[in-house]
This record gives sequence, structure tokens and C-alpha cells, in this order.
Amino acid sequence: MMGAKHLIDLGDFSQEKIKSIVELACKIKENPSAYMDVCHGKIMATLFYEPSTRTKMSFQTAMLRLGGQVIGFDNPQNTSVSKGETLKDTIQIISGYADVIVMRTPTEGSAKAAALNSPIPVINAGDGGHLHPTQTLTDLVTMYTEKGTLHNLTIGLCGDLKYGRTVHSLIKEMCKYNTKFVLISTKELTVPQYLKDMMNASGCGYEEINTLEDAISKLDVLYMTRIQRERFASLEEYERQKNVYVLDSAKMKKAKKDMIVLHPLPRVDEIEIDVDNDPRAAYFRQAVNGMYARMALILTTLTSDEESKPIVLNREYPSVKCSNPKCVTQTETYLPKTFSKSGDMLVCDYCDERVLI
Ligand code: CP
Repeated sequence: MMGAKHLIDLGDFSQEKIKSIVELACKIKENPSAYMDVCHGKIMATLFYEPSTRTKMSFQTAMLRLGGQVIGFDNPQNTSVSKGETLKDTIQIISGYADVIVMRTPTEGSAKAAALNSPIPVINAGDGGHLHPTQTLTDLVTMYTEKGTLHNLTIGLCGDLKYGRTVHSLIKEMCKYNTKFVLISTKELTVPQYLKDMMNASGCGYEEINTLEDAISKLDVLYMTRIQRERFASLEEYERQKNVYVLDSAKMKKAKKDMIVLHPLPRVDEIEIDVDNDPRAAYFRQAVNGMYARMALILTTLTSDEESKPIVLNREYPSVKCSNPKCVTQTETYLPKTFSKSGDMLVCDYCDERVLI
């Protein structure tokens, strides 16, 4: 649709555009007062169907600091969603009120589904266990600021690599920077196969290591993650996985002097509190960078005159159902069931689930 510049997956943006957003975020951070009026008269709608502290508030404060205004909800039960309104209709209505939509959902592929029906830009603020592209922008700004480059880094990803959407978006992006990936997880919580294929296809490859102790000394960046309790099918399975990986001061002693520790937060038990005092603990600085990254994204989205890329769907297979129970097509049943083909599998256009034909 003309005028819409959606961010569903960071791969929607060219590497040049991502670089310019990261650089703009750094410029805004240096001199925020120069940007205090640049979105005057613009309105951002934040649609949060799932809890959030950082993403929601950093988006909201980002827009306010740019001189714009914010509407939205963080409890869909207080909206007409509770009366059965479809995502399509909700988006159609809100796109008549606002200039940009930021949305987070427990279902996967919902931001893409929303973008299909939105004449204004839709920004994915996290769709279930699938993707979280603006967290990746935050991570890029932080690594660029702290390490001085995004290239040739050895990044250890630790914890819930199966359900952690921040990890998925980060891997997709860092495949472009000759990254050495070190995957630190139990076999139950390893990275989805499509991302392993992507790391191999990019030439980066990956190494899987079971313990943090064995991996930490080789890392430039350690990206810790929370075990995503809300994504597990059973509490028993979650209980088996929690507390397997805990970063503490003893383990930090084995790390490089200039390694940085990132975490999208919230943390539960996976980083002990005494690590916070280590100058290499960059996760609270990372959360602040999230606001600058989102200021740069909003400004770019609302002021850029580049051509909008329409959402392109692949072939429709009306009789095929996506096997992911959290896929948006399970609840928004009017959506065309479209898939790309990969060998003898179909890949869902919305949630990237692979379905055997
Ligand atoms: N990192 C992140 O997405 O945090 P919230 O869930 O608090 O938004």
C-alpha cells in the first residue's frame, strides 16, 4: 500500500537503511534536544496484546520526546477485541486515527497480517516466540556503541533459543556481519532449524556448546535470555529448563576483559545481581539505547520519502493449515493460507513454520 513502510522483520529493511537508523540513534543520543519537535502533529498507536515494560514505554517515550503524541491499549480485554472484533477490522479503524501502529501479540505472524490491511506503517514489537525486530535495532545500537563495530564479532546466545524471539531476530540480522555464533542451550531449547539453515547459508555457521563455562572465554558478546515460561506447553517442562544457565561473578572471571553482557530483559534468575556492578554488564545501558533506537525508527518511518515496499504473499494453498498452534492464521481465519516452498516443505508466510506437504 502506498505510504506504508512496515517493519515486520528487520530483513524488510536494506542493510544501508539499518545502518542509517543505528547511526541516527547515536546522533539523537548525543543531542536529543535537536529532535524534540520533529514529529510534532504525528500520532503513534501502541497496541499491546501482551505484557511489556521496555518496548511499550520506550516506544511511547520515544514518540513523546520527538514531539508527537501517543494513543493505544495494553489490555485488549478493555477493547472491542473482547467482543470478537477481528485484527483486520481493528487495524482498519486505528489506521484512520494514527500515523503509525506499534503492536505486540502472543500470536505469531500477526504484525504481518495487520500490515496486509493497513495503509499506515505497522511496526512489529514482538509476535509470540517469532520475531522482535526493534529489540534487534536496540541490540545493534548497543553493540555498535560498546564494541565500535558490528562486524566479525563472536556472539554467544545463551538460554531459551527456541522461544526467544529476540534471539531469532538477532541471528537473522547478524548473519550479514560475518558473525561467529556460539549457541549455548539445552537440546530442548535449541534454535529453530530455519535459523540454523540461515546461519549455514550465510557462511557464518555456528557452534553448539552445552555449558556457559566452556563457551564464555571465547566471546566478544554474551547475549543472555530468560527461559520464556509463557511459551511452554506445560509448567513441568518449564521447571526442567529454568536455572540451567546462570551467569555469576565466578563465570565472568573467565570472560574477556572487553566482553559485554547483553540481555533483552526482563531477567528472572539467569544473571545474578552482583554481575550488575561489572562494567561489562551492558544490559541496562542496552535498555536505554532501546529508546534512542525507537526514536530513530519512528523518525525514519514518518519522514522518509523512500518508496514503500508492499507486503508480498506467496502461493495460496487453501487446503493446507499451518501446524503452528500460535500462528495468526489459526484465529484470523479470513487470512489467505499462503506458503513458500522449501524442498518438500511449505514455509508459512506469517510465522515461518515448516509444514510437511
Ligand atoms: N525486551 C523486551 O521486549 O522487554 P519488554 O517485554 O518489557 O517489552
